[in-house]
Amino acid sequence: MTKSAPQHRAWWKESSVYQIWPASFKDSNDDGIGDIPGIISKLDYIKNLGIDIVWLCPSYKSPQVDMGYDIADYYTIAEEYGTVADVEKLIQGCHDRGMKFLMDLVVNHTSDQHEWFQQSRSSRDNEFRNWYIWKPARYDEEGNRRPPNNWVSHFQGSAWEWDELTQEYYLHLYATEQPDLNWEHAPVRKAVHEIMRFWLDKGANGFRMDVINFISKDQRFPDGPIKDARTPWQWGDKYYANGPRLHEYLRGLGEILAEYDTFSVGEMPFVKDTEEVLRAVRYDRKEINMIFNFEHVDIDHGVYDKFEPGSWKLTDLKAFFENWQKVMYENDGWNALYWENHDQPRSVDRYTRAGEEDRVVASKMLATVLGLKAGSPFVYQGQEIGMGNVPRGWGMEEYKDIDCLNHWKRLLEHRPNDREAQKIAREEYQKKSRDNGRTPVQWSAAPNGGFTGPNVKPWMSVNPDYARGVNAEAQVNDPNSTYHYWAAVLALRKRYLDIFVYGSYELVDRDSQAIFAYTRQYEDQKALVLANWTGGTLEWDPSSNGVKGVKDVLLNTYDSTRDVQDRFASAQWSLRPYEAVVLLIEA
Ligand code: GLC
Ligand code: CA
Repeated sequence: MTKSAPQHRAWWKESSVYQIWPASFKDSNDDGIGDIPGIISKLDYIKNLGIDIVWLCPSYKSPQVDMGYDIADYYTIAEEYGTVADVEKLIQGCHDRGMKFLMDLVVNHTSDQHEWFQQSRSSRDNEFRNWYIWKPARYDEEGNRRPPNNWVSHFQGSAWEWDELTQEYYLHLYATEQPDLNWEHAPVRKAVHEIMRFWLDKGANGFRMDVINFISKDQRFPDGPIKDARTPWQWGDKYYANGPRLHEYLRGLGEILAEYDTFSVGEMPFVKDTEEVLRAVRYDRKEINMIFNFEHVDIDHGVYDKFEPGSWKLTDLKAFFENWQKVMYENDGWNALYWENHDQPRSVDRYTRAGEEDRVVASKMLATVLGLKAGSPFVYQGQEIGMGNVPRGWGMEEYKDIDCLNHWKRLLEHRPNDREAQKIAREEYQKKSRDNGRTPVQWSAAPNGGFTGPNVKPWMSVNPDYARGVNAEAQVNDPNSTYHYWAAVLALRKRYLDIFVYGSYELVDRDSQAIFAYTRQYEDQKALVLANWTGGTLEWDPSSNGVKGVKDVLLNTYDSTRDVQDRFASAQWSLRPYEAVVLLIEA
């Protein structure tokens, strides 16, 4: 039996988070774009799901090249979303309902329209020059001008852009219009601290921090190792993900966060080294509370490129989760639990093969497996009603995301006649493009899914399945819906807080490619979470998997009223397609 480690208790460990991506949440004024008053109108819906914290994706003034992750002013709200006063009302609305509120802190880069960058690019001796990362050109043997190194941008091509006026390159790990800030320069750090205080003083209860592990770069800016010989541009993450001064910078943020008793979660792509992650999240480190890691969402990527076909096994997924569950439990760290966000496709389509008939139960199964692990669960808008990926029949004109569109543009430039490559890319976009998570939330069976007015053309098309029950209104009215099931998972987690928040985690039936099962245990209280990951019926033998006896059935993805305990008294259990059950068992 695993002994419970001396886990520090904290409100932020017990909380669950709902993520809002404003453009597609709810339009209140029929301009086809979601907005803050729209969010305020749905706070009861969020509260009733059992949510403790609302995280609002970037809503600041922005040219929207990367949907708000390109910020032009950290102190102004984008006109299309509302005003600072609207955000104050939103914060108040959350607090009135006993929920907390997070802003998105995007400070690895700004928009090129930000005043700091406008100044910085205006001349080499401008006082803001050092706020960004400027480097002279290199020249090859023929005297051609080349970027300072070979780093690839996350959105295709070189990560450096030549600026004619001052005859230097600037670094942009994302779009050309997203120049990276120079954190080596103390005034940049001070400016970030001021932004944090501004929003905390307005009542925000913390931050989700965008690519926060990229803020410290190796100042030699070395070439990245050549992994893909087909292109000059290579990943430089070795030199900027968790760079030399990251923890010093995070402690700077942590001091402010501690003053306000906040919740913090940092996005950290590329990092797999558990020691390195623990340095950021271990309880005594006072940097940030938890991170988003990426192994489980990169699982279907190709070897070189996300938009190349990839394949994965259930055992891989189980192994990633098991590793982080153990590491955090044994070292006083904490996990952020997520399947979806605004950068990921919809989980029911990514992780299951459910067809029309078992999408609902498969969505519930995913909620069970995710929500009862140790960590703070994150629910992304629409996930609670089981929204799916964009339809296969949608043409390229429906796709809006810069990541996907840049990929398509480059493919057409470099391989204009390669119909096969284009066909494969199109199939992969439908599976993996960020657009999949960005279609408007489906509120009702009304035209446009009730996201906006019936005669309005929304900024992005609504998935037509809103008419077939994938909408909030239908699900709020149906006690057997995915929405109510999510609510039951979050409530169960709170009811058995010791087990599901503070208990240990043991993977069960490790080698199975069909079953995802684990136990959670706190002292002599123990629960089994058992999920059939397939669309077929499965027989499962409890005793050979260490189950000594069943005390109670806590939850079931099928109609739980019909699920009598007797079923789990037999020696062999039969699991229906995508069935997940949660049982209290003998310790
Ligand atoms: C993060 C965001 C993503 C954005 C990128 C650049 O990964 O989640 O949406 O494009 O950072 O800010
Ligand atoms: Ca609007």
